[in-house]
Amino acid sequence: EYPLPISPVKDSKLTYTNESSGALIDYYEVEVKTLKKQIYPNLPECDMIGYDGITPGPTFVMRQGREAVVRFTNNGPTNVSVHVHGQYNRAPFDGWAADYALPGQYKDYYYPNAQNARTIWYHDHTEFVTGEHTYQGQEGFYIITDPEEQALGLPSGKYDVALGLASRVYRANGSLWYETNNDVGLWGDIIQVNGQPWPYFEVEPRKYRLRLLNGAVSRTFHLSFHEGLDGEVVSFYAIASDSGLFSHPVNTDSIAISMGERYEAVVDFSKYAGHNITLRNSRGLGENVDYAATDLVMRFVVGGSVSDDTNNGDVPSDLHYIPPPPTSAPAKDFTFERIDSEWLINGVGFTDVENRILTRPQRGADEIWTLHNGNGNGTHPVHIHLVDFQVLSRTGGRNTVLPYESAGMKDVVWLAGGETIQVVARYAPWDGIYMFHCHNLVHEDHDMLVAFNVTQLEK
Ligand code: C2O
Ligand code: CU
Repeated sequence: EYPLPISPVKDSKLTYTNESSGALIDYYEVEVKTLKKQIYPNLPECDMIGYDGITPGPTFVMRQGREAVVRFTNNGPTNVSVHVHGQYNRAPFDGWAADYALPGQYKDYYYPNAQNARTIWYHDHTEFVTGEHTYQGQEGFYIITDPEEQALGLPSGKYDVALGLASRVYRANGSLWYETNNDVGLWGDIIQVNGQPWPYFEVEPRKYRLRLLNGAVSRTFHLSFHEGLDGEVVSFYAIASDSGLFSHPVNTDSIAISMGERYEAVVDFSKYAGHNITLRNSRGLGENVDYAATDLVMRFVVGGSVSDDTNNGDVPSDLHYIPPPPTSAPAKDFTFERIDSEWLINGVGFTDVENRILTRPQRGADEIWTLHNGNGNGTHPVHIHLVDFQVLSRTGGRNTVLPYESAGMKDVVWLAGGETIQVVARYAPWDGIYMFHCHNLVHEDHDMLVAFNVTQLEK
């Protein structure tokens, strides 16, 4: 058993001033390169590829209003396109799947960091190999903070912890196994948190803010905290999702999280001094394939005393303003389904270059998109780049929008078998061509990836 790894915070290399606006811009350099990682002490090291040669990559901590430029230099063996998932990047810096740096090349990405506080993540987005690259290690956290969030008194510093979940398979010789000709999913028998199978994390008996990310290729999770190994459920407050804080905290016993989604929890360990709390995953969920240990995620070892009682009070009942959804907006329909052994959206995939721009929202306009799980096959976490959306309805399947799905804004929604979901978003602030796709990365790489073009004038 190993402790939970925590990635280092990325430091900027220099700061310069935008001559025209006077704004300060931080400049960072990241190198994509191969690495060797020891996962099992009795097996050889495993070959991976990561940002700065570590995986998960370094964590970016950005302040709202402070722009950044990041140079990603590709010193790895394969093509690289970097997507910061959850930020409204300008189109040329959004990690378009066909805009990759070849080995030996670099690309400078400009990031506005203008949105409200949120937990986002960055990962590779190269066409047809996003799953393999993310799985091999190209992923990391990117956190935006803002003054409104800082004033809430939520657990911070060492009491604010990012937990990136993944699921992998290792061969008997310690190397990573990724089946490139399977087009359904890679569920993985080994659950990891921040790259470590079944880690433990020593906590104090007080409140923690836990930022949960499902960074797995294909596995969805249904997470809950339990006393001991499988004792009573420890309920918690969900306070934020993909696009930042909720309007109000949502008390819950569990959270269902599909690939690409983030949820933040405030968990109070104060009653459990000297005990263990286990983060568990329900088995038998959707179309996942389960294995011996896929019900276990990680363990919190609760110590006997609190070293710092700051920001340990009640979660405020008002967190962040979420605007009411518009009552009417243009409606569009998108069907996610498998046709003739391809995963397609309205019958189109990324390889269909002529037709892959499916729609042209007018910049600044609200649109209601209806997402259908076509022939009921497969779970499709639907991710729309650029925008924050609200989940309006879900019919079929689970037939409900869960309280923690409607309390805030999101950029991924879990479209399970048999479901139809409506989401509303404002297509802003930039013009340009952006992707939307299934975040089961195996589906995405087998063509369930298309685009929309935000335009200034109605077409
Ligand atoms: Cu997290 Cu288009 O991806
Ligand atoms: Cu899918």
